[in-house]
Amino acid sequence: MEAVQLPATWPVDQIIDDLDQHGFSMIDNAYAPSYVEQLIAECTSNLERFRDAAIQNGVVSNIRSDHILWLNEDLEISNQHVQTLQALGHELNRAFFLGIKDVEAHFACYNAGEFYALHRDNPQGKNGRMISAVYYLHDDWQDNWGGELHLQDKNDQWHIIQPKPNRIALFQSDLMHEVLKAKHQRLSITAWLRSDTRLL
Ligand code: OGA
Ligand code: MN
Repeated sequence: MEAVQLPATWPVDQIIDDLDQHGFSMIDNAYAPSYVEQLIAECTSNLERFRDAAIQNGVVSNIRSDHILWLNEDLEISNQHVQTLQALGHELNRAFFLGIKDVEAHFACYNAGEFYALHRDNPQGKNGRMISAVYYLHDDWQDNWGGELHLQDKNDQWHIIQPKPNRIALFQSDLMHEVLKAKHQRLSITAWLRSDTRLL
């Protein structure tokens, strides 16, 4: 298959600089409207397949209440996004020698009242997750709808990131963060750029 290119509009040098200085960065207007529409359609047409993220291997936790669907090759539209993130991973490897080899991703849906309490995606570097990349794909978001990503950067400064449509929040997976309670349905693709490869 032909390698997927990074969109020409992505500010790669800025992203590298932000990650270096702060451990996080943002890409706004990530994709063309026609592709965004297809992504939203693929997500919303599969919503009935989403499962409680709080239940993993039969164990219930109360730190999150969102619903997720892991991506695979059958979800062709969102898979292009995963391949784009793979191309970004190659750029980040050149800059930081992160050894990114793979991208894993799931759709996430937070209905009104749902949240994800403070956590790290890679506590104490215990798993291969290097960079977290959250793409917001609802078609509207107002500042008073809650659902903000609250993130502590590598210099211990806290940031509030609005889940604006067509935005990607990129951050080191070892940083502390939480998703505040959403007041409206909040849709996203959460992905991790990993330094190991999963057994498929
Ligand atoms: C996660 C997460 C942040 C967000 O899924 O691990 O922290 O803004 N998501 O959805
Ligand atoms: Mn997280």
